[in-house]
Amino acid sequence: MNEQLDTLLSETRRFPPPPAFAARAAATETLYHAGRDPQKFWEEQARSLDWMSPWTEVLVWKPPHARWFTGGKLNAAANCLDRHLAGYRKNKPAIIWEGEPGDQRVLTYAELAREVGRCANALKSLGIRRHDRVAIYLPMIPEAAIAMLACARIGAVHSVVFGGFSAESLRDRINDAQAVAVITADGGYRRGQLLPLKRFADEAIAETPSIKHCIVVRRGREAAVSLQGDRDHWWHELLERASPNCEAEAMDAEDLLFILYTSGTTGKPKGIVHTTGGYLTQVAATTRYVFDLRDDDVFWCTADVGWVTGHSYVVYGPLANGATVVMYEGAPDWPERDRFWSIVGRYGVTILYTAPTAIRAFMKWGTAHPARHDLSTLRLLGTVGEPINPEAWIWYREQIGGGRCPIVDTWWQTETGGIMITPLPGVTTTKPGSATVPFPGISAELVDASGRALERGGGFLTLTEPWPGMLRTIYGDDERYQQTYWSRFPGRYFAGDGAKLDDEGYWWILGRVDDVLNVAGHRIGTMEVESALVDHPSVAEAAVVGKTHELKGQALAAFVTLKEGKQISPSLKDDLKEHVVRKIGAIARPDDIIFSADLPKTRSGKIMRRLLKDIAEGRALGDTTTLADPAVVNRLKEMYEDKES
Ligand code: PRX
Repeated sequence: MNEQLDTLLSETRRFPPPPAFAARAAATETLYHAGRDPQKFWEEQARSLDWMSPWTEVLVWKPPHARWFTGGKLNAAANCLDRHLAGYRKNKPAIIWEGEPGDQRVLTYAELAREVGRCANALKSLGIRRHDRVAIYLPMIPEAAIAMLACARIGAVHSVVFGGFSAESLRDRINDAQAVAVITADGGYRRGQLLPLKRFADEAIAETPSIKHCIVVRRGREAAVSLQGDRDHWWHELLERASPNCEAEAMDAEDLLFILYTSGTTGKPKGIVHTTGGYLTQVAATTRYVFDLRDDDVFWCTADVGWVTGHSYVVYGPLANGATVVMYEGAPDWPERDRFWSIVGRYGVTILYTAPTAIRAFMKWGTAHPARHDLSTLRLLGTVGEPINPEAWIWYREQIGGGRCPIVDTWWQTETGGIMITPLPGVTTTKPGSATVPFPGISAELVDASGRALERGGGFLTLTEPWPGMLRTIYGDDERYQQTYWSRFPGRYFAGDGAKLDDEGYWWILGRVDDVLNVAGHRIGTMEVESALVDHPSVAEAAVVGKTHELKGQALAAFVTLKEGKQISPSLKDDLKEHVVRKIGAIARPDDIIFSADLPKTRSGKIMRRLLKDIAEGRALGDTTTLADPAVVNRLKEMYEDKES
């Protein structure tokens, strides 16, 4: 076994569920027993939804194509709205929204249902029908959730395109799905600026012949928008004219609910296809059990609805459970770096679900910001999207969770639809940095390069049985679906992640295998090196990439940001290299350390290692349109070239 695994395996801290939490938890040990019969387990979970007609078969599995709950009919929007209207939840807040400038809106379930009904009728009035595709290009405003649910209500397929994507990205996604309408806004606020979404949409629509209609939400007070002829409509005018009552279409369990594009590492983005019954079953069940959801919870998943996390844990999962969700439009450091904690304090957030990269930013900004606010309502914390280094995990637990909240580190993907590997907070003893074990009813297996199953050690994460929320195909390209996910290890779904299993059967996700480097024949997870670097007292954040090396195959280049107030001393580079050697071993010693004031990130907060790699290799930069601040990359490139000269 190589040294990188030893480093993680040496993590000895254990956090059993607090007894008081465990005593009241929604999920108990019995859920794991139930999960041993996956089909029975998922059928049981499906029963908690409202079906218009029952399924005849739980699973039809013709590898690699699965059909769940065939013959069953349901409507996702009706499950998220109508069934909560009969009782006390009618006047319960469904969405508590805060705009970046500080404006607020609260929509009860009854109000949300009326808005969704109006929007659904408005779409119908434009001739939009079952199975039509509708692109949604909105900021984080309630209309994003309303538009998604309105599509679901009439059986149209939504394709949400993250508001941070460029006009060209929007154009390509619209064309791939042949969408007939796009729902956008005049703008959305980010760090005090109004992002002109309608202008980008106009640019996109110039090259998307399938678009017949563009619906525009008025968000910005100062935005100048030109509406074009019969094509463009103001959202508020359409909805004003529309009735709030719109019957929900009875959809087949396997009818498409949405397409969501993932920016793959190469080539054009893949349109990941999700269907109705299985997806909703999985996101509803995982929300209930992983987040221990109770009726009085205030649930805040900080993801944008432009990403799968927003689909599954801002909209469908929580609303299917009748929860109150918080939605926030803007940046975590606007106007101050305490914005998240101010939101948690003011709305009494009880469950917070965010990304490790955000947590690392908060660490860098210092404890004074959370300390200023009352975080005592929090009872459960979650993370998603990338491996979390143990230091960030502990910081989150101590500084945000006050040492009392369990942490659920949840591994899953756009393709899996819902959470796959995660603790159950009242049951599973957690280890900082480990996503722990598969959710009940999920079968994950580690394999080596030849596809042989491994009991422990390092390898590739695969899934051996179909699960209800799994992608059904890649839109318009089933061949690519089979090739991408099912060909590397025949008979298995290959997630693209490297992982390891420890002696207790706990999963430690090492990250995408394209981020796993091979240095002199040793495999090194970039996350391992990053974790070691951020463990150094001066380092706030680090990103590590491989660069071609004549002798070793690959060498490590580390981009490092320092904590506020820390200086670059003459010996710091050597100190950091030695620190890594101390934490991991000589094979992980970075060849290059480049100090930087910031790291290039997507607007969803992921470090773009691909760009760092381009810099390290001295290549031309790839697509930077998803960057929050493209200038960061250029600054880094310059710094790197300075170093080389
Ligand atoms: O590499 C894994 C990482 O994020 C990838 C999926 O990205 P995406 O489809 O954008 O979905 C992100 C939100 C579900 C995975 O292949 N990833 C996700 N969650 C974790 C993770 N890596 C480690 N730990 C996690 N908890």
